Amino acid sequence: MLEAKGINAFYSRKQVLFDTSISVKEGEKVILIGPNGAGKSTLLKTIVGLLAPTKGQIAFSGEDISSWSPQRRINSGIGYLLQNENIVPGLTVEENLLLGAYPIKGDLLKKRVEEVFEIFGFMKGRLKDRAGFLSGGERQALAVSMVLMKHPRLLLLDEPTAGLAPKAAQNILEHVKKAQDVIGVKAVCLVEHNLKLALEWASKVIVLVQGRVVFTSDTPELFINNPEELEKYFFE
Ligand SMILES: Nc1ncnc2c1ncn2[C@@H]1O[C@H](COP(=O)(O)OP(=O)(O)OP(=O)(O)O)[C@@H](O)[C@H]1O
Ligand SMILES: [Mg+2]
Repeated sequence: MLEAKGINAFYSRKQVLFDTSISVKEGEKVILIGPNGAGKSTLLKTIVGLLAPTKGQIAFSGEDISSWSPQRRINSGIGYLLQNENIVPGLTVEENLLLGAYPIKGDLLKKRVEEVFEIFGFMKGRLKDRAGFLSGGERQALAVSMVLMKHPRLLLLDEPTAGLAPKAAQNILEHVKKAQDVIGVKAVCLVEHNLKLALEWASKVIVLVQGRVVFTSDTPELFINNPEELEKYFFE
């Protein structure tokens, strides 16, 4: 479904990704893990087109999208949750949802909002509240919902559980599962620091260290009880 191949990426003269390749197949739930500064967010940014790689290709559903604008990539079915500043705190919950849905209007928009209620029930009673008044977990739920409004087939989520206590983090991951059913999301790639939680959720794990993929496994469940087996890559 998604194939990023041989990506090099820089910020000014500083190289952050080194011949990095990842693939996400239909039905997969991938966790992208690695130490701070490894380049996880940068990799997602190149996939969604916010940063142009100096080398490499990105294909989505069999099409080379390397030259496409971020807008076009998102409209083609890639949903992207930014790591930070992923809601507008001064707007209401409803306004944030409309922003996520833009330019969808009318009955379709109403239907999409109803779907969000089906996934995150609490949102129904909070529509007129300022998003800035939501709790941390509710904010992340809103941020994920904004992405879901466009019915992505692939979800790229950059730390949707950042800053949340384990219970709230688990709650978000469960709701991502629910979103897959309600909306028909075909595959998810998510950046996560809480290894145990993420390993329970995922079907595939990719470890990125200093801009390079150092380990991949299709059996993340094998590491649930010994995540240090994966963490050892972080410190080598
Ligand atoms: N806009 C930017 N300008 C310059 N350097 C940047 C920029 N964004 C990130 N970097 C640098 O690129 C490297 C990779 O950053 P990135 O944010 O991709 O890491 P990450 O794996 O997402 O880390 P974290 O787990 O802390 O979110 C870091 O050294 C970071 O300082
Ligand atoms: Mg990051």
